[in-house]
Amino acid sequence: MDAFTLLRYSITPLLQDPHIFKSSMKFYAFVTVLAAIVASALGQTIELGSPQNGDVLTIGKNFTVQVVQPDSLASVIQIGIALSIDNCNNGVCPQPTEQLGNVLYAGPWTPTGHAQGGFYQNFTFQLDQYSTTGPAVFTLSHFCLLGAGPVPFTEFRNASVTIQS
Ligand SMILES: *[C@@H]1O[C@H](CO)[C@@H](O)[C@H](O)[C@H]1NC(C)=O
Ligand SMILES: *[C@@H]1O[C@H](CO)[C@@H](O)[C@H](O)[C@H]1NC(C)=O
Ligand SMILES: *[C@@H]1O[C@H](CO)[C@@H](O)[C@H](O)[C@H]1NC(C)=O
Repeated sequence: MDAFTLLRYSITPLLQDPHIFKSSMKFYAFVTVLAAIVASALGQTIELGSPQNGDVLTIGKNFTVQVVQPDSLASVIQIGIALSIDNCNNGVCPQPTEQLGNVLYAGPWTPTGHAQGGFYQNFTFQLDQYSTTGPAVFTLSHFCLLGAGPVPFTEFRNASVTIQS
């Protein structure tokens, strides 16, 4: 049972009894603990295995993007991911909610189990010759439905990389 289902089953009987809902200190303590479990579960829905901070990507050469599905308490219905790379200026990289830059992939994400490294999917890309060299941010955007509700959810992972010619 995932944390959300647990939360829903646990609080539903309490919510149906307003007296208990208002008065029980135990109930509040319980919800606080569950919220912490849910929050930690939320942080574990996806990871960017590669590229990593400090990696150098060479124009015209293949590089691997590894998108990892960690062990998670959260129940997730996958929608898809976007993989993008954007240049940084004077040490300032655009925030993913404002600008993603060069979108290398947008579509479904279908991680599979591997003997080493668990569940993940690898993608292979090449930056084209018109790419701007220098510091850049690689961003993984993840779109999914989360929990027993479920609710729509978007999150980002990134790596600071350098583009070289
Ligand atoms: C680069 O990636 C493409 C597409 O995945 C593949 O067909 C090609 O063989 C790769 N080239 C090298 C040098 O690995
Ligand atoms: C990259 O991720 C780090 C850690 O999550 C965050 O602090 C930073 O704002 C992100 N940077 C960009 C440009 O998205
Ligand atoms: C996927 O990419 C990672 C990181 O580059 C690599 O360690 C791993 O061997 C790759 N897996 C496969 C099946 O090619």
